[in-house]
Amino acid sequence: MSSVRALVEEQLGTGYRYQQFDCNGVGLLPGTKVSLKMEAWGDLLKDFTGDSVLDIGCNLGFFTFLAAQRGASKSIGVDVDRKRIDWAERFRRQVRVEFDHEWMDRVEFLLDLDDVVGRFDYIFMWSVYHHMFKLHPDHDYWFQWLFEHLAPDGQILFEGPFTPDYIIERIGLGDVWTRETLEAAMSRFSWRYLGPAKHTGGREMVLLWR
Ligand SMILES: C[S@@+](CC[C@H](N)C(=O)[O-])C[C@H]1O[C@@H](n2cnc3c(N)ncnc32)[C@H](O)[C@@H]1O
Repeated sequence: MSSVRALVEEQLGTGYRYQQFDCNGVGLLPGTKVSLKMEAWGDLLKDFTGDSVLDIGCNLGFFTFLAAQRGASKSIGVDVDRKRIDWAERFRRQVRVEFDHEWMDRVEFLLDLDDVVGRFDYIFMWSVYHHMFKLHPDHDYWFQWLFEHLAPDGQILFEGPFTPDYIIERIGLGDVWTRETLEAAMSRFSWRYLGPAKHTGGREMVLLWR
């Protein structure tokens, strides 16, 4: 059994299933939920040649890896959860060693958004903004942060709940986060609604760009 396969099985043994990887002997493959997200984004994830990518709430790093694999010159994943970042880094090192995927060298993981330096051609922000907003419930603060970290002509691929949504209710943001307040914060961007996410019935997905 390959060491990457052993790592995948060890991770599965933790019972944590959000970003699940599979392994067929050539590297990491997406599990079911990740596949559905990829299907929903379609062609938007095809080619990152020469781009810099920031993946906020990167979890085990699947999409951070994907961007690098698809040509990103730099792909940075950030997650507040040390366990997730440690797993991501273990996968990164093992795949690098075992499969000699040199694009793994363009991947970096961080624990804290304060450590993010620079501007990015793409920011992925999937199923995480409601957590960020809970930490600091101010759209203007976050959208300013995003603006400062987005390259000219950069794009933000955003997936998350708009009200009414059970996630916003569940984490207690129902009274401060309305569709109107979010849209007002987004008004300095051009943005486009792309359609509902496929991995959860209720969530929607938008594409924002400058
Ligand atoms: C529901 S998962 C989504 C993972 C990934 N973005 C995806 O779509 O597959 C949410 C992730 O965001 C992380 N997270 C929560 N609050 C965060 C914050 N303030 N900054 C960065 N990451 C955060 C969690 O630890 C978790 O890994």
